[in-house]
Amino acid sequence: MPVPQVATTEEGELSFASISPRTFEQLRDLIRAESGITLGDTKRDLLVSRLARRVRQLGLRGYDDYYHYLLCEDRDGAELQQMVNFVTTTKTDFFRENHHFEFLRDQAFRQWRANAAATSDYKLRIWSAACSKGHEPYSVAITLLENFGQRACWDIKILATDINTDVLRSAESGIFPIAEATCLPRAIRERHFMKGTGRYRQTCRARDELRRMIAFRQFNLTAPDWPFQRRFDAIFCRNVMIYFDETRQKQLVARLSEQLRPGGYLFLGHSEHQTWLANYVESLGHTIYRKPGS
Ligand SMILES: C[S@@+](CC[C@H](N)C(=O)[O-])C[C@H]1O[C@@H](n2cnc3c(N)ncnc32)[C@H](O)[C@@H]1O
Repeated sequence: MPVPQVATTEEGELSFASISPRTFEQLRDLIRAESGITLGDTKRDLLVSRLARRVRQLGLRGYDDYYHYLLCEDRDGAELQQMVNFVTTTKTDFFRENHHFEFLRDQAFRQWRANAAATSDYKLRIWSAACSKGHEPYSVAITLLENFGQRACWDIKILATDINTDVLRSAESGIFPIAEATCLPRAIRERHFMKGTGRYRQTCRARDELRRMIAFRQFNLTAPDWPFQRRFDAIFCRNVMIYFDETRQKQLVARLSEQLRPGGYLFLGHSEHQTWLANYVESLGHTIYRKPGS
């Protein structure tokens, strides 16, 4: 028996609560092709909950119309980008998985100082490769400033990228709800953030010194061409690989490893450890990896 494409309520109103299996397949293929994100069969309700408002906003009758709209009317790809923005999971926090920042402070810096003393190369390049709303690159920048801040000779830059243009806009503003910054020690909060006033009083903003260290760019980790000229000393690619299938995960790790300088560090999310990672990087424990060489 054919499944109705658009469900109706008893009163005959359009319902945005369900999606046909075929349209779900079509939309998830588009999402996978565009972003690498793989939605399993159990993610139907999730997709519906994330797209319902958008479909209504566009005045469409349901998800099959939305798919048609994406294929035939979205000439500049703006709607496809919107859909990716809606379906990405963007949960993040300051100093999430804090042991990574402790490792930066206690071990990576020691190594970098020794390298710089030996080579007179005082450049440090760090990439936050799925930065979401910016908590991750700002946490890296705070750790760097707190440890290298007084050393004028260092040239430190952080590249922060994400596929989602909404989170990037928010990250670049450096503005955060005050509640999200309460987990930071008071001294750190006061040194690196300004409290908003008036209608911004529930927010705080990263100080210029911090913001100047970070360049935000849109970048899709599954893009065929990677435009980087210089290798990175450390890459944070945390809690994004879990949304990709294993083939894409392996491709991603191979490319991240290529993008690291020998001895550079790769930080992955807490549930992203895989035995095959050993083909590309050596494990230092606690989802911290190192590219062989020095
Ligand atoms: C759960 S957040 C992780 C944020 C941060 N790395 C952390 O661990 O707190 C996942 C992020 O990956 C981004 N993302 C998903 N697919 C991506 C892709 N193909 N290229 C770049 N970023 C992607 C999402 O937009 C989202 O902001």
